[in-house]
Amino acid sequence: MSSRGRHARVFVVVASVAAAVVSASCTDPVLDETVDDQGNETKGIPQGPLHRAGQRCTACHQQNGVASEHPFVLAGTIFAQPKRQVGVEGAEVRLTDADGTKHITKTNCVGNFFVTASEWEPKFPILVEVAKGGVRRSMRSPIGRETDCAGCHVLSVPPADPLSQVGHIYLFATDEIGSPEGAADCPVDPLRPGSP
Ligand code: HEC
Ligand code: HEC
Repeated sequence: MSSRGRHARVFVVVASVAAAVVSASCTDPVLDETVDDQGNETKGIPQGPLHRAGQRCTACHQQNGVASEHPFVLAGTIFAQPKRQVGVEGAEVRLTDADGTKHITKTNCVGNFFVTASEWEPKFPILVEVAKGGVRRSMRSPIGRETDCAGCHVLSVPPADPLSQVGHIYLFATDEIGSPEGAADCPVDPLRPGSP
């Protein structure tokens, strides 16, 4: 190999190490893309517990995210039905971590729930079931480390990539108890904007 070739190769290595250092310290391109994918806020829905139902909350609600002041250890949205995305209010999300500690939280009127570190600091993997009014659904496999339910449970019906994605979380098969039309007194329409 000519000495020129060797120098060129050394340069390439140095340049890519520098690029890696820059991206680690300034921005994370994968995270940026995930956040972009969530889209803009919906008009008329304030930034708060009722916004962005079904989206990847912790893409933003984490230390390196745009909502870093309010990080979540786990978050997601429970819908009523397999097809239309109407949030279920008051569904219990029952969580059990690797040490066997348990935490139960409830969904708000668009179906959103979130857990903060002051409430519970789980050790992954985590088991989860959701329940309301005698109806219960359990996820068979444990959640290994993903902090967003929507990291796997996507909003497109059917999921765009069935090999790596599952559909949104729903509690009732259409005619069971519960209110498929969502809570009547919710300040935000519990039918997710853009729902099929
Ligand atoms: C694209 C980024 C983004 C996504 C996705 C997102 N949020 Fe937010 N959220 C924000 C921003 C920005 C604020 C306002 C700044 C703040 O409160 O940290 C906010 C505020 C909030 C607040 C108010 C915090 C407080 O105590 O004032 C809650 C609660 C909340 N979001 C819940 C959620 C839930 C639940 C989800 C998922 C269903 C979600 N957010 C998804 C960016 C996001
Ligand atoms: C790592 C990907 C992944 C994450 C993260 C994830 N899930 Fe799941 N979930 C799946 C898969 C795959 C299935 C279907 C197979 C199974 O039950 O294990 C499933 C199934 C379920 C089911 C049962 C559905 C049915 O048809 O009865 C429920 C309920 C559920 N998940 C809730 C949740 C909740 C709540 C969260 C967030 C706290 C969550 N999941 C996070 C991948 C995930």
